[in-house]
Amino acid sequence: MKPTEGNQRIGIPAYFTSHAWVEARFDKADLFETKQGRLMFRAMEPLLRVFGFLGPAVRLHNEYLFVRHYAQEARLRQIRPTCIVEIGAGLSPRGIAFASADPDLRYIEVDLPNMVAAKRRALGGFPYPPNYFLGTVDLLAEDFSKTLPEMPRPGDRVAVVTEGVTDYFNMPEKRKAFRNIHSLLLAHGGGRYLLDIYARENFPQLPFLTNTFIRTLGRMVGRSFDDQLFERVADARRFLVGCGFDEAHELDLAELNTSAYQPPLGECTYRIVEAKVGEEG
Ligand SMILES: C[S@@+](CC[C@H](N)C(=O)[O-])C[C@H]1O[C@@H](n2cnc3c(N)ncnc32)[C@H](O)[C@@H]1O
Repeated sequence: MKPTEGNQRIGIPAYFTSHAWVEARFDKADLFETKQGRLMFRAMEPLLRVFGFLGPAVRLHNEYLFVRHYAQEARLRQIRPTCIVEIGAGLSPRGIAFASADPDLRYIEVDLPNMVAAKRRALGGFPYPPNYFLGTVDLLAEDFSKTLPEMPRPGDRVAVVTEGVTDYFNMPEKRKAFRNIHSLLLAHGGGRYLLDIYARENFPQLPFLTNTFIRTLGRMVGRSFDDQLFERVADARRFLVGCGFDEAHELDLAELNTSAYQPPLGECTYRIVEAKVGEEG
């Protein structure tokens, strides 16, 4: 693969979420338990408790994360793709879990080289299911789709997923990412794209909290979020259509979330959006 232009530091939060998936007992999450992830998760717990008075977005931060992961999985189970391409999968156990549970599904998981190396290390001697494919890509690269480790096959119902990825990109990068995903789906007969959107309209109306959170995360991943979040989810939907998608709509999180975690969804800082390419998508 040619040298990547992706921002490797966006991988840091992937360690935190890998432990979140362990805590929430997602299938196969134990395979990806890392010391780094556990330490980050444990270090955050007291902070979330101490600053919990600021509101549910802080107090229930981890529950909202569990719901995000659960809701995307619930939607994938509803639409039953025959091929899933998850981009920026980090140390998520979903690919291994879904591929192990359904031999008729092909699950293609891709990420930047350092994260894929970490995932391979975590998997160690675990036997990969034959319908699971792991490889390196840069979602922002011109030749993104040519570098996938496996391609959807003719007749596949294809779904692309990103979780906790695209809001780390600024607007020109989001445009590149969405156009690349649109082209991938178009080249394979259409399909659906699931993603989470953190829009400013869904952040708590406490400027101190919002700014501190956004700045801290920005420092961690080495970039400023000042100009990279959509104001409204509707802006994100329009942006996706501007990148070629036929349509994009917000999914009903309450309907998808049948998990054991039931935080008040009105306070949730993200929404799950589904964008489509083609009639069947
Ligand atoms: C916050 S982590 C989320 C990981 C995983 N989706 C989860 O929810 O646990 C963001 C992921 O996006 C990946 N990423 C960042 N830029 C990327 C790019 N240009 N191409 C592919 N993956 C990228 C990072 O390496 C990291 O694994």
